[in-house]
Amino acid sequence: MAMLERNKIVELQAIATQFADHVVHHQLDLTIYQGERVALVGGSGTGKSVLLSEIALLREPDAGEIMLFGQPVTQLSGQGLAGLRKQIGMMFQQGALFSSLTVLENIILPLQEHQRLSQSLLEELAMLKLRLTGLPEQAAHLYPQSLSGGMLKRAAVARALALDPALLLLDEPTAGLDPAGASAFDDMLLELHASLNLTLILVTHDLDSIWRVTDQVAFLGDQRVLAKQPIEMMVKDEHPVIKAYFANNRAKRAAIKLESTA
Ligand SMILES: Nc1ncnc2c1ncn2[C@@H]1O[C@H](COP(=O)(O)OP(=O)(O)OP(=O)(O)O)[C@@H](O)[C@H]1O
Ligand SMILES: [Mg+2]
Repeated sequence: MAMLERNKIVELQAIATQFADHVVHHQLDLTIYQGERVALVGGSGTGKSVLLSEIALLREPDAGEIMLFGQPVTQLSGQGLAGLRKQIGMMFQQGALFSSLTVLENIILPLQEHQRLSQSLLEELAMLKLRLTGLPEQAAHLYPQSLSGGMLKRAAVARALALDPALLLLDEPTAGLDPAGASAFDDMLLELHASLNLTLILVTHDLDSIWRVTDQVAFLGDQRVLAKQPIEMMVKDEHPVIKAYFANNRAKRAAIKLESTA
């Protein structure tokens, strides 16, 4: 029986990115399939956040082609691009909620831009997103500065989910959370992935998250994606850059943990 061809959600071909004479990406290729939970890892400054912005159509690479949901973005009109952008939810590295708006107002904002709905319907939809991320309803009327770190991250995810995206991008979502908070956040991501039929890409340095949440790891180094494979294989990869990245205590501990349960 023939295997069903999996849908490609993101296909990056020969991407180049540079700032003045600083080359960040060169001949970078990456394919992500529907439903995958991908960790994008690599040393600081290797261009993970920039790549996420390019996938989210927030900045253009200097060369190469980005295909999203099978469509080459360079060939799309403004309207076509707007349609694609709605299918992508992004949680930024700095959270980036508007501090002058309540949590609910923050979630409503993207809805308002794209849908002509009554205020009460907007609020209802926003509350639904809020509940999806496990936030208590009382959080809706708080301002970002009065939320804990973990609640802020959930509120940012709720906003990213406002337009029912098919692809959710998260930039270091568990950075700054305590271990219990980080693992609760990871569980929430897994639940969202399962219930909303999402494809996930998360930039993370958090090895616990990588082991728990993701099924594929894309490793950024030498200005391109050096490998995309499950973490079990990544920690055994002999490429010197990959080896160096994982040759620290946390990675070793995680690898040992796996071996002892195998
Ligand atoms: N707007 C910009 N102008 C100039 N240089 C930039 C700009 N944005 C990013 N860079 C540079 O591009 C490189 C990649 O940045 P990026 O933020 O993607 O790294 P990163 O892999 O996300 O790092 P980290 O793990 O520290 O978040 C860095 O050297 C950064 O200084
Ligand atoms: Mg970054």
